[in-house]
Amino acid sequence: MISKKMSDRINEQINREIYSAYLYLAMSARMSEAGFKGVGHWLMLQYHEEMFHAMKFLTYLQDQGATVQLKAIASPDFKETAVKELFQRVLEHEKGVTKSIHEIMALAIEERDYATQVLDQWYVDEQVEEEKNATEILQAIDLAGGSTQGLYLLNLELGKRKLGVPSDFTKIGEGD
Ligand code: FEO
Repeated sequence: MISKKMSDRINEQINREIYSAYLYLAMSARMSEAGFKGVGHWLMLQYHEEMFHAMKFLTYLQDQGATVQLKAIASPDFKETAVKELFQRVLEHEKGVTKSIHEIMALAIEERDYATQVLDQWYVDEQVEEEKNATEILQAIDLAGGSTQGLYLLNLELGKRKLGVPSDFTKIGEGD
């Protein structure tokens, strides 16, 4: 059993993860509309990954016998439409998520909540990957030097991204 304080914090994190999904879905739609189908595809898979992050926390609350409380999701807040600025925004957003995930770890350590520490370690590792992915895309954009051809090739490359999490959320907890 986890504390009420911890279940409240995880419920808050579920909201933040679904907000992340909503943000990336909006970005995906905007970039696809602008003709960057590959970028839109990459962001659509990011949307799916964020929903997986939310569902993994949700399943954990259920496994712990805690109450799931879903709150309102804010409208996606972004203005960036140029590819480089958009991925800078992605990186900044992920840095904020990392901070949030680390707060959960700090609370779990303070409460000697070992089960949540083990769960949250998965997210700590995931955030290293999330920041690395955005950083590498920004490096590729810088290498292209803002050329149209470079952006065209990057768009093709991002369009090849494969889903890295289970697509069936009912399978979470069965060896994901
Ligand atoms: Fe759920 Fe992109 O971190």
